[in-house]
Amino acid sequence: MPCDYGVDFGFEPEHVDRKSLYVSLEERIKYLHAFLEWTSEDVEHLTSGSKYLKQLIPAVVNLVYKKLLKFDITSRAFHTRTTASEEEPEDDYLTEETPQIQRRKMFLRWYLIKLCQDPTSMDFWRYLNKVGQMHSGQERLAPLNIEYIHLGACLGYIQDIFTEALMCHPQLSNRRKLGLIRAINKIIWIQNDLFAKWHLRDGEEYADEISIYSFGSGNKEGYLSGKRILGSSSESSIDDDQSSIASSVAPSTFSGAPSTHTTGSSRTPEGATKTSACPFADFARNNSSTETKIWH
Ligand code: HEM
Repeated sequence: MPCDYGVDFGFEPEHVDRKSLYVSLEERIKYLHAFLEWTSEDVEHLTSGSKYLKQLIPAVVNLVYKKLLKFDITSRAFHTRTTASEEEPEDDYLTEETPQIQRRKMFLRWYLIKLCQDPTSMDFWRYLNKVGQMHSGQERLAPLNIEYIHLGACLGYIQDIFTEALMCHPQLSNRRKLGLIRAINKIIWIQNDLFAKWHLRDGEEYADEISIYSFGSGNKEGYLSGKRILGSSSESSIDDDQSSIASSVAPSTFSGAPSTHTTGSSRTPEGATKTSACPFADFARNNSSTETKIWH
């Protein structure tokens, strides 16, 4: 008697057209959404929690730039626009205080604000793809060639900062923390794909057809450069927590010099001992009812 392995013989897997993943950005995003189970619930969590994400942005920007300037291989890219050459820059290595880095911090700030905005339009994902493309050395004017290892590491670092800070939020309910972290992680992983795809050789047999399908919407190469990418900053919030965090607390904590609160985080900016990366630190210190390993 044949063994029943519980196989449903009538089952048909969903078809995914391989070529479309390479020649159509829309189809690629559709597939990633389906695979990662990106749903309206994710959108809802992002919309209602965007104010918490936005509070983290100054801290994220400062920490990311500290990190990028810490290693010569990434710091050099701000002189040479490439990580592929180990030639020493002619000028001194840049520091966080230099105007060039201040300006670049602004770009990253815009990007992160954009990340907290409406992800329901295709323009949102097109923008992420453009950021991927512009780091791949394929722009005709002033190419920027950042090898994938640094982009992946940088995204991982950003994800870690968001996760730590949101997990440690003293007042957000667990349900909202979970929803917000899952949603932002899905976006970060799609951004990761949109960085990686410009560096991989997968699907290269369709290379000639990519530009026709992926950029048919009027977005030209270099579209991002120098162009303000912010839309409306309106945000809705379904506040089911004990209270919302005063927006002045977190950004001001980190927008200048890094905070020196000794709240136990392991992420330690250079020169400061045991500084928490979490911009809600002040809030928690003043809120004795909060008990987490980070906060007391
Ligand atoms: C998480 C990864 C990253 C994101 C989201 C990101 C985002 C951005 C954005 C939005 C811009 C400005 C685009 C424009 O409007 O012109 C930019 C420019 C730039 N990025 Fe990145 N970046 C990432 C990683 C890196 C890394 C790892 C490096 C260096 C190793 C780097 C080096 C640069 C440089 C040199 C520019 C050009 C700045 C200029 O033209 O003045 N980026 N990046």
